[in-house]
Amino acid sequence: MTGGTAVYPDLAGKSVAVTGGASGIGAAIAAAFHRQGARVAIFDINAAAGRQLEAELGQGARSVTLDLTDSDALSYGFSQAAAELGEFDVLVNNAAHDDRHRIEDVSPAYWRERMAVNLDHQFFAAQAVVPSMRRRQQGAIVNMSSIAWRVGLQDAPAYVAAKAAIEGLTHALARDLGPDGIRVNCVLPGFVRTARQVEKWLTPELHAAVMASQCLKRFIEPEDIAGVVLMLASDSARAVTNQTFVVDAGWS
Ligand SMILES: NC(=O)c1ccc[n+]([C@@H]2O[C@H](COP(=O)([O-])OP(=O)(O)OC[C@H]3O[C@@H](n4cnc5c(N)ncnc54)[C@H](O)[C@@H]3O)[C@@H](O)[C@H]2O)c1
Repeated sequence: MTGGTAVYPDLAGKSVAVTGGASGIGAAIAAAFHRQGARVAIFDINAAAGRQLEAELGQGARSVTLDLTDSDALSYGFSQAAAELGEFDVLVNNAAHDDRHRIEDVSPAYWRERMAVNLDHQFFAAQAVVPSMRRRQQGAIVNMSSIAWRVGLQDAPAYVAAKAAIEGLTHALARDLGPDGIRVNCVLPGFVRTARQVEKWLTPELHAAVMASQCLKRFIEPEDIAGVVLMLASDSARAVTNQTFVVDAGWS
């Protein structure tokens, strides 16, 4: 993992929360902040992957195993991690679960569960970090959406609806929190070559479709997303809030 070569001196010593940080894009984001000298809390349901990344990164990295759909566990986990690493300066709302579903198979319970795993925790994680950010009159929140809702990913209406709502949530939080110096932005990745994407969805047909759709004829790697997130969290973006950044190699 490289996460680019840019150095943001203001990120050194910051306390950063990354949800879904044990694998995929989240792991690249956690590693990229850690390389900047930040302390990183990795919140993830995958205990083994979280522990492995914590060991790989070493001092300043802390894996917290929890199910983000359990808002009590989320609130407790965030308060414990903040007590250990320091009050969070940065929150990256990254966790999601992009299972496919056909319209006729979606029950009310499944729909709610998709919202819980793809949308609700982004609000509750923000709710957990905002009091201390407000007290200190500074903070940066980056919410991970997807171009899925702009290009209309097939067989995933609940995931797509949640990803659209995240852009709306970003605007709502940015407006409410701006007076306290807290910036909130949103990143929309295109197709990113993570282990899960390769294992679950990357057929030769999809490979061809991605390359035909993108302007750039190379895969987006997790580190490409991490580089943009670092910039948004840093003082380089101190006048940037309420915005959406599409990182899709020119797909949309
Ligand atoms: N990979 C892509 O092509 C792509 C494209 C567009 C947007 N995105 C977005 O980027 C973000 C990261 O995607 P990714 O591809 O790295 O995903 P991923 O599935 O590889 O990783 C998601 C992480 O979230 C964790 N997680 C899932 N449910 C959880 C829960 N209930 N509690 C705690 N942790 C949980 C998983 O264990 C995993 O570590 C997501 O928000 C996704 O929607 C990804």
